[in-house]
Amino acid sequence: MGTKNIAVDGPAGAGKSTIAKAAAQRLGLIYVDTGALYRSIGLFALKNNVGSRDAKGVPALLPRINIEMKYDSNGTQRMFLNSEDVTDAIRTPEASLYASGVSAMAPVRDFLLSTQRDMASKYDVIMDGRDIGTVVLPDADLKVFLTADATVRAERRYRELREKDTDTTFEEVLREIIARDKADSEREVSPLKMADDAVLLDTTALDLDGSISALCDLIMERFSL
Ligand code: DC
Repeated sequence: MGTKNIAVDGPAGAGKSTIAKAAAQRLGLIYVDTGALYRSIGLFALKNNVGSRDAKGVPALLPRINIEMKYDSNGTQRMFLNSEDVTDAIRTPEASLYASGVSAMAPVRDFLLSTQRDMASKYDVIMDGRDIGTVVLPDADLKVFLTADATVRAERRYRELREKDTDTTFEEVLREIIARDKADSEREVSPLKMADDAVLLDTTALDLDGSISALCDLIMERFSL
């Protein structure tokens, strides 16, 4: 038997990372946050004064980028961009917009494809992103499309950012989520879209615990655990 592969896709702020990470911990799977890969490339563009939608400039940066995903003793994924730990730096709203911009470019997506597939072939993973079920792991054992209303998603992300002392307003977060939803689902390359064989999990009316349990139930059912 090969490895267990679970794809979790959905829009920004649906709680994918928190929910998938907790489910992975509960079930002994490795959680892979693929958004962090796009964010790292976005951050590199930002640092090098290349526009996030510069379709020539961004691909030209790729040969200078080395991205590594490592796991600390708590199983937390840490991102290294050319050996620098950028785990926190990639979380700002500016980095989010840059991530969305660079993720619309085919060369960027191709650049990251093998990293993602390698992880899935080596480990039992819950991989979260936008196109995991549709493009990266079309043969995943289970595909979940995790979503929630935009306002609820913005409230959740706002709370998360406030805990980290960022001086972002709620309106700013909501605007950013709506803008990213639009950009992510309307782009030509690998748009955010539910795979035909994915299970829909809407967490608008669920709290965190309920959402984690719902995902764990789907996984346990699929693998008869
Ligand atoms: O999941 P996230 O918010 O960290 O993702 C950051 C950006 O990266 C998001 O705007 C869309 C993009 N992304 C993508 O295009 N494909 C993925 N598999 C994951 C993220």
